[in-house]
Amino acid sequence: MRTIALDGPSGAGKSTVAKLVAKQLGIHYVDTGAMYRTLGWYLLQEGVCLSDEAAVEDALSSVSATIQFSGGVQRMYIAGQDVTDLLRAQDVGEAASKIAVYPCVRDKLLGLQRELAVRYDVIMDGRDIGTAVLPDAGVKIYLTASVEERARRRYQELCDKGETGFSQEAIQEEIASRDYRDTHRAIAPLRQAEDAVMVDSTQLTVQEVVDRICTLAGGKV
Ligand code: C5P
Repeated sequence: MRTIALDGPSGAGKSTVAKLVAKQLGIHYVDTGAMYRTLGWYLLQEGVCLSDEAAVEDALSSVSATIQFSGGVQRMYIAGQDVTDLLRAQDVGEAASKIAVYPCVRDKLLGLQRELAVRYDVIMDGRDIGTAVLPDAGVKIYLTASVEERARRRYQELCDKGETGFSQEAIQEEIASRDYRDTHRAIAPLRQAEDAVMVDSTQLTVQEVVDRICTLAGGKV
């Protein structure tokens, strides 16, 4: 199967870019962050204390997250509910990042992620795709941008959606603490795989990043 692993910190533009690359190459886009967010959403809903690993493990033991592709778009389900449109909220992202440090959470999603890459040609984005989930991926990209630029983009995105009440400084702090958690956790921390190509999007347009990845993928996937 053809696989592109796309890793990088929060707000680097992975999902925007991955959707366009998938379209251009005619492959599936798999968003692994949405899987962590699905579990995070469920735990928030159930009122589980996220800092209590045993409680998180217990709550997740009897529930499974499933994934479907509808018209090429990934939809996430948990406990029989389609939660796809509920996952982008700020608190859900925070919850996902907090529980992503637990082995029980990562193990639960690893099989699902690998199974998708066996079944489909994919561009899969996340934090540990090139290093842990798909170490044999045909192409590995590490997409990053400065923390200031990532905060600026996220702030603009919220303003465009009419969401107020967030300052760019607060968003930058939140991104920085998420970066810290993602890069310092014991299991599958965020880091560039040795054989990954680094793309810094700080000064690049979305299309320039897409073209760069498609060129790197040319002939290899
Ligand atoms: O990419 P996204 O912001 O949707 O991911 C939400 C959180 O899930 C991240 O902050 C990260 O902590 C976690 N995550 C992860 N490994 C992945 C994808 C996401 O730990 N492969």
